[in-house]
Amino acid sequence: MNSVYEKLQGCYESIRKRTDFVPRVALVLGSGLGEFAEEIEIRETIPYSEIEGFPVSTVPGHKGRFVFGYVSQVPVVIMQGRVHYYEGYSISDVVLPVRLMKLLGAEILFLTNAAGGVNYDFSAGDFMMITDQISDFVPSPLIGENLEELGERFPDMSEIYDRNLQKILRTAAKKLGIPLKEGVYLQLTGPNYESPAEVRMCRILGADAVGMSTACEAVAANHCKMKICGISCITNLACGMSQNPLSHREVQEIADRTAPDFKRLLAEAIAEMGTEKDRQGEQE
Ligand code: HPA
Repeated sequence: MNSVYEKLQGCYESIRKRTDFVPRVALVLGSGLGEFAEEIEIRETIPYSEIEGFPVSTVPGHKGRFVFGYVSQVPVVIMQGRVHYYEGYSISDVVLPVRLMKLLGAEILFLTNAAGGVNYDFSAGDFMMITDQISDFVPSPLIGENLEELGERFPDMSEIYDRNLQKILRTAAKKLGIPLKEGVYLQLTGPNYESPAEVRMCRILGADAVGMSTACEAVAANHCKMKICGISCITNLACGMSQNPLSHREVQEIADRTAPDFKRLLAEAIAEMGTEKDRQGEQE
């Protein structure tokens, strides 16, 4: 068996020894959002460190565990903390958790992150629904022997972010009176923030927001046919767009300050993702 798939199977079996919970939605929580996992109807928590072979995050402020439970009766698995490519993991380790949640039964992947605004119409504290992405600055997680068990060798990427889920996010934001920007997310490796010239490059390439996660996870999830949606919290205007130098603390402060609205939006949108309306929408 392929070593990447073997590791994935090992992680799957180690979770299945603890719980037979089958999630519908897999949610990845970005900076500042961790608490959301504690506010749901929890059935089981599994620290990453107790899953054999699982990559464990080293970033301050990122917890590391799966939380299984219900958001308005929708079964969810939540990643409270993710690993990043800049931590030194291979790209296949970085996307292992997403593939694992698919094996556990999740059909929908909801990605969240903190990102720098590249679009001059954005301000710190805005939310941006991701409509498309640029992942070419990090290696594709699909490089290497194809995992036939998960998906095809040359997967189509024409609609990475599911149109029906985007509709659900727009409707949820409108209902709650939370403004929701839309745009293209570009992933760089990090961990350094960008130079002003790199931010200009991102803008020329068509990006609206830049960050250090998410796009590689979406590529892996699209490969294994998950339906994907994503929201970035624009914690700052990217480097060179304002007078202030960037700091991780500032990013965390804005992420924390906007977290209450972000959490309301997540809860409202996820509640809609388990309904018949959503399932009918999937068949449209
Ligand atoms: N650049 C990259 N990643 C980020 C930023 C940024 O400006 N802000 C939050 N995450």
